[in-house]
Formats: sequence, structure tokens, C-alpha cells
Amino acid sequence: MIGLDRVTVTLGGRAVLHDVTFHPRVGEMIALCGPNGAGKTTLLRALAGLLPKTTPADPRRVAYLPQNAGSAWALTVGQIAALGRIPHGDTADAPVTLALRQCGIEALRAHRVDRISGGEARRAMLARAFATEPDVLLLDEPTADLDPAAAHAILALLKRTAEQGKTVVVVLHAIDLALRYADRIVVMRQGRVEADLPADRALPALAQAFGLPFGVDPSPRLLPPA
Ligand SMILES: Nc1ncnc2c1ncn2[C@@H]1O[C@H](COP(=O)(O)OP(=O)(O)OP(=O)(O)O)[C@@H](O)[C@H]1O
Ligand SMILES: [Mg+2]
Repeated sequence: MIGLDRVTVTLGGRAVLHDVTFHPRVGEMIALCGPNGAGKTTLLRALAGLLPKTTPADPRRVAYLPQNAGSAWALTVGQIAALGRIPHGDTADAPVTLALRQCGIEALRAHRVDRISGGEARRAMLARAFATEPDVLLLDEPTADLDPAAAHAILALLKRTAEQGKTVVVVLHAIDLALRYADRIVVMRQGRVEADLPADRALPALAQAFGLPFGVDPSPRLLPPA
């Protein structure tokens, strides 16, 4: 339904995506990883059809969470989540309530988004995406402001959502979370897809992209609840 075939994107006179081919599959959760400026946000925006000369995706079927969604409005968390119903032209309450519950912010429904914490606001924006009940979720760093427990909870939710026959593409800087939850990891660097691998084989490519000696530490560590 969405995908890119040999796409090159030039912004401000500079090619920021070079010959990128990327096809997410139904039922799959894909993490997009790579250094700052690698082109992850640009790839997501290209998929969503938000760049010049791209075709906008159907907003009823594809939800896009921007990296900097902003939360300076005098709107409540419930109203933000309800924005996710605009593509359907309805005010259905059930998907909004479910989205708030899934994102762990049901109790904040009546709170204004400009008067809640950064992590709470991020989850409100995510609830908006879920309220659309899309087939495809394109999420740019949805766990950036979240505490570790909340980040695990949201990624587990995304994985379950993919398993239920949706498609999830998520930009993540948290390599440990990407390795743990994604089916597939796409590694970007300097506007190119450097690797596109099952998560359990992606560690060497990630180490190379970041120039860091990532490894799996077998020593005892704090494990999140199963
Ligand atoms: N509108 C624009 N005009 C010119 N250059 C841009 C524009 N938007 C992004 N770029 C450049 O394109 C490159 C890729 O940007 P992009 O936002 O896709 O990176 P990213 O991988 O999402 O990085 P980050 O991890 O910091 O969010 C960067 O070098 C950025 O400076
Ligand atoms: Mg980005």
C-alpha cells in the first residue's frame, strides 16, 4: 500500500535521500535507525506523501506522527486524540477512548496538552494516531520523551498492533528497543539505506552506522516485565 522505489529527494538544493527503496509489509514492525541527519524523517515523510512531488497517503489508512508534533495548544488530551477522527469525518468516541487507554493517558483526558509533561504530551500525539485506526502507522521517535517503562509499554503496543495485521514503521534512536521489538531494522546513513535486515541480524550494521562497538552484554541487567 505504501512504499518507495528508487526515490531521491532533494531539499534546499541538497540530495537528502539517495535512491531509496523501501517496502514495509503488512503485519511487520520496522525500526528506522541511523545517525542524526541520516534521512529517517525525510524517508517517513516521503512514505506519507508529505514531500513535494509525492502523492499524499490516504489519511484514513495511514497515520503519521511527526518528530516535533508540538503541544502548545489550549486543547485537552481528549480533543487532541479526537483529531485523529477528522479523516473519517466522525466524532466516534470508542476509538478515541481506546487510543487514550492504549497510550496510558485515559486519566489525562480532560487535561490541557500545554499543561502536562513532555512524555504525557508525546503519548497524547500518539493517541491521535491510534484514534484514526489506521492500517499503517508511521511514527517518528514516538518514545523520545518517555520513561523506560512507558517506552517499553508503547513498543509492546506497537508490536501487538503489527501482529494484528497492521504495518508499523517507527524511527528509533534507542537501539536496544529496536533490537528487542522490531521485526526488521532499516539502517540509514547519509541519505542511503545501508542495511535492511531482520532485527536479530542487524547489530553489526548498526555498529557500523554509528561507529560504536555495540554488543550484547550477557551480564545481569534490569529486565522489563514480560
Ligand atoms: N527542509 C529542508 N531543507 C533542507 N535540508 C533539509 C530539510 N529538511 C531536512 N534537511 C536535511 O536533510 C537531512 C536529513 O534530515 P532528516 O530530518 O530526514 O534526518 P533524520 O535522520 O530524521 O535526523 P534526526 O535523527 O536528527 O531526526 C539533514 O541533513 C537535514 O539537515
Ligand atoms: Mg528525524
